[in-house]
Amino acid sequence: MVSRVIPVEEFDLVIFGGTGDLARRKILPGLFRRFLSGQMPAGSRIIGAARSDIDSDGYRQMIRDAISEFGGAEKSETGRLNDFIAQLHYLRVDAKGEAGWKELHELIRFKVVNAFYFSVAPSLFGDLAERLHTFKIADNDSRVVVEKPFGRDLVSAQELNDTLAEHFDETQIYRIDHYLGKETVQNLMAVRFGNMLFEPLWNNHYVDHIQITVAETVGVGGRGAYYDKSGAMRDMVQNHLMQLLCLIAMEAPSQFDADAVRDEKLKVIRALQPIDPHHIVRGQYDVNGDEPSYREDAENPKSFTESFIALRCEIANWRWAGVPFYLRTGKKLKARTSEIAVVFKDIGHSIFPGDEKRHRNILAIQLQPNEGMQLQVTIKEPGPGGMRLIDVPLDMTFAEALGPDADDTDAYERLIMDVIRGNQTLFMRGDEVEAAWAWTDPIIEGWKARNDVPKLYDQGSGGPEDAMALMHREERRWREIKE
Ligand code: BG6
Repeated sequence: MVSRVIPVEEFDLVIFGGTGDLARRKILPGLFRRFLSGQMPAGSRIIGAARSDIDSDGYRQMIRDAISEFGGAEKSETGRLNDFIAQLHYLRVDAKGEAGWKELHELIRFKVVNAFYFSVAPSLFGDLAERLHTFKIADNDSRVVVEKPFGRDLVSAQELNDTLAEHFDETQIYRIDHYLGKETVQNLMAVRFGNMLFEPLWNNHYVDHIQITVAETVGVGGRGAYYDKSGAMRDMVQNHLMQLLCLIAMEAPSQFDADAVRDEKLKVIRALQPIDPHHIVRGQYDVNGDEPSYREDAENPKSFTESFIALRCEIANWRWAGVPFYLRTGKKLKARTSEIAVVFKDIGHSIFPGDEKRHRNILAIQLQPNEGMQLQVTIKEPGPGGMRLIDVPLDMTFAEALGPDADDTDAYERLIMDVIRGNQTLFMRGDEVEAAWAWTDPIIEGWKARNDVPKLYDQGSGGPEDAMALMHREERRWREIKE
């Protein structure tokens, strides 16, 4: 299956923080792949802007190296890489001073789409936004792209929103949550709203509970300084898991357009009930032989920050009242996997003698690394000797079903192209981010007030024992974490 490439208009994309980690690892390699698929029109330019004292040639070399390292450019693509690199420019710009801004004004073209990617610390958003206006670099059609973390609580998120709103309209602001750019995350909407089969069952009459798991095998080594001030709640739940929850729980928007989708997501977040502290388990990975503990990785021997969290929440609306949603995410777990499982209620009465098992249909959607869907159904165990029932998965691994050329577009490339197209559907609106913080803030404040200490868990496990108990005491169990 060959993916369809929809061309975009010619553009100038300025990346503030253009020499940074995200730019080198994700943004530029992603743009190169879009270039290879013919989606970057001739004449489009990418302008790296940062403090480093290099020129455009130095920048081109830096990005050439980055693409070889992170972008997997094949030898056969060297010629194409040269063509792409020729579209790169660099300007030394001081976010807090005067340097570089006049030059940027002269470089930017207003007759093509122009976008400004703030791949910098949020504390610089205000300075950048202000200078883009003062130096008349951005106009009413320009777009700004901002990265997570979007604040660390409601107040700081509101401040960021206000700062951006001083210079840009909401329709110009693209807040990235890269989970929304993942192929299968979008597929959640296709599965729900493109099929008749699931919708009638998608409610508290038929669904027992829903599990959302985002498990990682990596630790926090190398980014301990950031992570230790954040923890799994701020780093993953407030944004990525919350977005997955919204897509799985929201009502059908009247159409697939930015505000219709975001209105429905917002309603879900606003309907989330405050959580009872007994319904949350926080964990920290322990030392494992030569593998450092979380506290060593974070270089904070007294850290109370969680590298794992499991929680049970409820959405107070007609569709979901009474249905628990169990969310968990953590570092240094058994396998890297992201999965959503919709566990249906068991049948009320079995007509088969001796069949005492509570059979349940489960729709499991794997987001990564092996994208696919399984529907667990109950059938007769083949062979003579009466009616014995077994549960088997109807399995659809997308790579098998859709062929080896199934689209492997990375989240960042898809999202950047959406910015150029002016499509905000897969970006978070300001009110959504604020509502998510309004829900998480009291939880985090509760931990602080109670001096909550995370439970230690073994590296390579499924998290602390208490996370299992969170389910077991309600006679449910987590699905196994496996690739
Ligand atoms: C980032 C978090 O937003 O998402 C990281 O800051 C996390 O801590 C990462 O590792 C996970 O993203 P992915 O795409 O690898 O699942």
